[in-house]
Amino acid sequence: MSPTVQNPTPVISATGLFTPADSISNAELVESFNTWVAQENAANAAAIEAGEAEPLAASSVEFIEKASGIKARYVLSKAPILDPEVMAPRLAERPNEEISVLAEIAVKAAREALTRAGRDARDVDAVLCACSNLQRAYPAIAIEVQAALGIEGFAFDMNVACSSATFGIQTAADFIRAGHARSVLVVNPEICSGHLNWRDRDSHFIFGDVATAILVEDKAIAPALHWEILGTRLKTEFSNNIRNNFGFLNRAAPEGVGQPDKLFKQEGRKVFKEVVPMVAEMINGHMMDLGLEASGLRRLWLHQANAGMNRLIAGKVLGHEASADESPTVLDTYANTSSAGSIIAFHLNSDDLAKGDTGLICSFGAGYSAGTVFVRKAA
Ligand code: COA
Repeated sequence: MSPTVQNPTPVISATGLFTPADSISNAELVESFNTWVAQENAANAAAIEAGEAEPLAASSVEFIEKASGIKARYVLSKAPILDPEVMAPRLAERPNEEISVLAEIAVKAAREALTRAGRDARDVDAVLCACSNLQRAYPAIAIEVQAALGIEGFAFDMNVACSSATFGIQTAADFIRAGHARSVLVVNPEICSGHLNWRDRDSHFIFGDVATAILVEDKAIAPALHWEILGTRLKTEFSNNIRNNFGFLNRAAPEGVGQPDKLFKQEGRKVFKEVVPMVAEMINGHMMDLGLEASGLRRLWLHQANAGMNRLIAGKVLGHEASADESPTVLDTYANTSSAGSIIAFHLNSDDLAKGDTGLICSFGAGYSAGTVFVRKAA
């Protein structure tokens, strides 16, 4: 596609979603965790009895649901995660000649977005893989996705943790405004199960696996049924309260245990306390600058990390307790899927909106990082 158009205007043409076949319920998860806890405590009984070691505490379904709103999570590798001897995903390493698993799930989500937009992959100009954890350093996963779909142009990976998708949308929109591309595919493959410490009681329930895709295009070539982008805004502020030290300078934790510092960890309470006001203020400021009012917001597609955080943020934006229709959740079935969460919420809960309806896609998470994307349905 020729990148020479006057006043290009970026819009969201379509989204796509890939959901793994297997799901783990809280009951299944807690049973496995508590079996491991009982085994550990039995193995350390003498030390515990002598006061030399603390017994491990059990997890509970009630706590998980009350603290997070999560009831289940989809995963790519269910049996090993539930096996008390393993408690980590086991995805066979693939030869270099085969597509990587991260690229594979990204391609599945991308194909749905392309189909929904009626877009031939050959007419896409760029691919951004925007996600929390990349399975290798290089070649970029985005370039592998580009090749698998037969796309010309350019592709690269970017990581802003849970805010990767909104940062990807703004990046794609900027490429379009600048005339560097007219059709940009943003993919968010999230294999969160690989960086979750399934033996950490405080967080073992938090994440799930999924992939989403967003096709950002110049309005001139977009399908009639698209979403105008009224404005995007990004914010980062350094914090150690959500951290994952996995990386090529650090030794990997192939068993998913024994090196908890190389897996996800957080100070959940601090995150809750610090991120809620930061995000609410950001949304309200951006909304005001765009000349929008809360009463005119039809729906909020918020990052899906925690039901309590979303309730508080939505309340601070709307001025009243949000209904499920105003701020839909996918936490119950998908759990936290990092950057993909707000896009899943949007993908599954936007077809019913009418022409002219305005809404907000919003992400927040590690970094800290946050992104707001105000959209309006065009048809
Ligand atoms: N099962 C049962 N009890 C548990 C438990 C589990 N799995 N995990 C913790 N508890 C207990 C704690 O031991 C504590 O008990 P105590 O009061 O007797 O000391 C109690 O529950 C409260 O623990 P706490 O960790 O303070 O829970 P919380 O109410 O803060 O909820 C989070 C925990 C993580 C759900 C919450 O802090 C949160 O959502 N934070 C934001 C997370 C987030 O969005 N992160 C972004 C990632 S991208």
